[in-house]
Amino acid sequence: MKIFSVIGARPQFIKLAPIVRAFNQDEGRSGSGKIIHGIVHTGQHYDYLMNKVFFENLGLPEPDFNLEVGSASHAKQTGVMLELIEQVLENERPDWVLVYGDTNSTLAGALAAVKMGISVGHIEAGLRSFNRRMPEEINRILADRCAEALFCPTENACRILKNEGCPLIVNEGKLIKNIARSGIGGETRRPFAVNVGDVMYDASLMALKAGKRLSGILSSLGLKRGEYYLATIHRAENTDVRSRLEILIESLAELGRKAPVVFPVHPRTKQRLEQFHIKVPFSQGLKLCDPVGYTDMLILEESARCILTDSGGIQKEAFFFGIPCLTLRDETEWIETVASGDNVLTGISKESILTAALGISSKAKKGRIAGPFGDGKAAEKVKDVLVQLAG
Ligand code: UD1
Ligand code: UDP
Repeated sequence: MKIFSVIGARPQFIKLAPIVRAFNQDEGRSGSGKIIHGIVHTGQHYDYLMNKVFFENLGLPEPDFNLEVGSASHAKQTGVMLELIEQVLENERPDWVLVYGDTNSTLAGALAAVKMGISVGHIEAGLRSFNRRMPEEINRILADRCAEALFCPTENACRILKNEGCPLIVNEGKLIKNIARSGIGGETRRPFAVNVGDVMYDASLMALKAGKRLSGILSSLGLKRGEYYLATIHRAENTDVRSRLEILIESLAELGRKAPVVFPVHPRTKQRLEQFHIKVPFSQGLKLCDPVGYTDMLILEESARCILTDSGGIQKEAFFFGIPCLTLRDETEWIETVASGDNVLTGISKESILTAALGISSKAKKGRIAGPFGDGKAAEKVKDVLVQLAG
């Protein structure tokens, strides 16, 4: 069975890692279960610290194809990706294309494949913010519509797909082959959703141990466990609206007057700060830095007093590590983290951000693990489902 993964942006390199590991465990097998896995990198992210460092940290193989699409408007970026992915798929003719998350690379991979009659598997299916102004919301809805196998990270994601009319929700992986084949005349497979758990949880387990051994990030930034805040901002709704970005930067600067705040700056955010001529106010504790690699990031997260972020992945990692999280948005897809009380939606208000952040004690770490995000074997379950369908 030939499977191609289409990836292109930072969080997708992370989601890919446990899949590569699960597929590699198959090496040496023969018959229909043997997996030949190819990687198509669209080139959406390309700076060393947004791209290659993740391949190094996670021991990922070089992509088989790098389309080097780079940055552009949504339509142009997605359009160029579509054209180039189609060429690769035309030559390679995989049985499955796997797409990950909700970026423009996800949409392009799903759309190119489904139009060629190639089965699409969507990893992290069923997520919704119910905010259609987010480009990610459009990408994930459309990727879900293209997909035949909808690999959900949580029960809630499966429930959302059921409500949207997904024909099959499968709870037991072992039943998939029979049920999915029961489409019209048994010839066409109906799309199905299955909760496999979250590959990002798998990835964090893979990398945290090594991070603890290898990372020197705390000492190089002069940080003490439990005594600093970690912040990231990159979502277009926050960076592309001047007034929102200003409020967020002022909030971090104010917080930095009370305690250290580490702020690895995403290139989109850096570009917007320059474009809007926003000066970061002087603040003793606010440390802006370049984006950091994955193992360093996990260590920064795991040792923080509290994380302030608009990132989807980082909200979950905070939850995995039992670190209080303040989500700098008006809504979140990851409602499980809010329901448990570990994640608080602050909205874009200086007062609510500061009140929430300063109310968190240095001993607030809970030491929680995955909970609703599975058992760390999501990627193996993805592989099992695909192998069953081929068998
Ligand atoms: C993209 C995803 C977003 C995801 C994020 C992860 C879409 C629509 N958005 O947002 O869902 O959460 O990745 O980080 O797919 N840039 C660089 N160097 C790079 C990459 C980007 O300088 O290596 C700059 C460019 O100026 C570019 C801007 O960042 O215009 C935005 O990059 P882009 O990939 O379009 O979107 P992200 O904001 O990164
Ligand atoms: N990340 C990282 N270094 C950074 C910022 C984020 O390694 O400087 C990791 C983070 O640990 C998480 C992922 O990148 O695993 C999240 O990506 P991002 O916030 O860019 O996108 P999102 O998850 O919001 O789509």
